[in-house]
Amino acid sequence: MSYAYNPVYSHFQGDDISRIEKIERTVVETIIKSHVPDKDRSWGKVFELKHSSSVIQIGRFLAERRGLDVNIVAAMCALHDVYVFETGKVTNHARLGVPIAKKILENIGTFTDEEINTILKGVGNHSDKHIVSKDPYIEFMKDVDVFDCSIYEGVHDAYVYEKSPEICKTYFARVQRVREELGLPYDSQWDNFEMIKKD
Ligand SMILES: [Fe+2]
Repeated sequence: MSYAYNPVYSHFQGDDISRIEKIERTVVETIIKSHVPDKDRSWGKVFELKHSSSVIQIGRFLAERRGLDVNIVAAMCALHDVYVFETGKVTNHARLGVPIAKKILENIGTFTDEEINTILKGVGNHSDKHIVSKDPYIEFMKDVDVFDCSIYEGVHDAYVYEKSPEICKTYFARVQRVREELGLPYDSQWDNFEMIKKD
């Protein structure tokens, strides 16, 4: 007997999926359906699809390590760049993403006010990586975002190019801290605040 759908695991097909899976699927669809072409986007859609997915999965690992709610974290990670995904623009995207994320959460309809507030705090503040927050979910979102980006090729130099040495120090400290938390080997590139690749 063959199934169009796997009866045990949905693979994100159909309506019988969890509220977190609904958010993950909505975010992927937002990227795919955005009418802004790559040439007019701050990031390519391929990066948006890859980053939005990898930050969720790494977020799940890190949430377990930190004793945070894995599902809330997964929703926060999925939605953190939603403004970029819809508009293609990065300027002030963390704050501008809050109303879009709120609407998605309310449409899905099963999140409590407290859960929505936690998710939106992480989304709205994640760009302020030079500021250390007392809120574990806000700190989490900053850490997991910069850590996920650090895995992509050439991102060290992109940060050095885009940001001041003071800001880079705060970003790179986050990368090193997460590497340690996840038991990864020490990576000395994150001690270096100059371009590494010279060609
Ligand atoms: Fe991000």
